Amino acid sequence: MRLDRFLSETTPLTRSLAKRALKNGEVTLNGEPIKQSATQVDTQHDEVKLNGETLALVGLRYLMMHKPLEVECTARRGLYPRVIDLIDLPKVERLQPVGRLDVDTTGLLLLTDDGQWSHRVTSPRHRCAKVYIAELAEPMESEAAQWAINQVAEGVLLDGEETPTQPAVLRFITPQQAELTITEGRYHQVKRMFAALGNHVNALHRQSIGDVALPDDLAPGEWRELTPEEIASF
Ligand code: URA
Repeated sequence: MRLDRFLSETTPLTRSLAKRALKNGEVTLNGEPIKQSATQVDTQHDEVKLNGETLALVGLRYLMMHKPLEVECTARRGLYPRVIDLIDLPKVERLQPVGRLDVDTTGLLLLTDDGQWSHRVTSPRHRCAKVYIAELAEPMESEAAQWAINQVAEGVLLDGEETPTQPAVLRFITPQQAELTITEGRYHQVKRMFAALGNHVNALHRQSIGDVALPDDLAPGEWRELTPEEIASF
């Protein structure tokens, strides 16, 4: 990797500020001062220091967060804090949510800077199951509940769409609380599925994605790294 790129990957410096730091003699390569931006760095073996501090590349990262209410999954700053504002890591802006949650949805959110892995989790082709708990405005009992379960199992047509949803699994925990397992990630899918059934979602929480479930001891706003097993499970 070119030295100026290495500096911009490992510090908050832009490429042009990295070049300036090099010109100013602030950088050493294996103990020797170095000024040429185009110098190649062996990222495994060379030691690069900026003003005496050793620099290391940030590897690919895989996190889970318990997304709280009123926090947004966007990269842009807006009305609400962003999920990445809750994460104190270098180069945090590189972390992308793996399938977004609405600002008023809570629960399991995965984040990574590994685009290929993210695609594996979200691509409809991989049919990765996502489990949501929805609090409903209208109670659905006996026949209405069974009708809804059957509709969801067959696929429902969402407002403005031409193809029905993939078969999904609906289970009522109480008449006003339902668990819905889907394998797609269409825009506002869960809320729109219940709207298609003539109901309304008052609150929504994501419990799991594939084999990865939100742990009970991860409080809203907290995050942790995924384990190697969790990463490999997708
Ligand atoms: N479906 C929704 O409607 N909202 C979410 O946040 C996630 C899935």
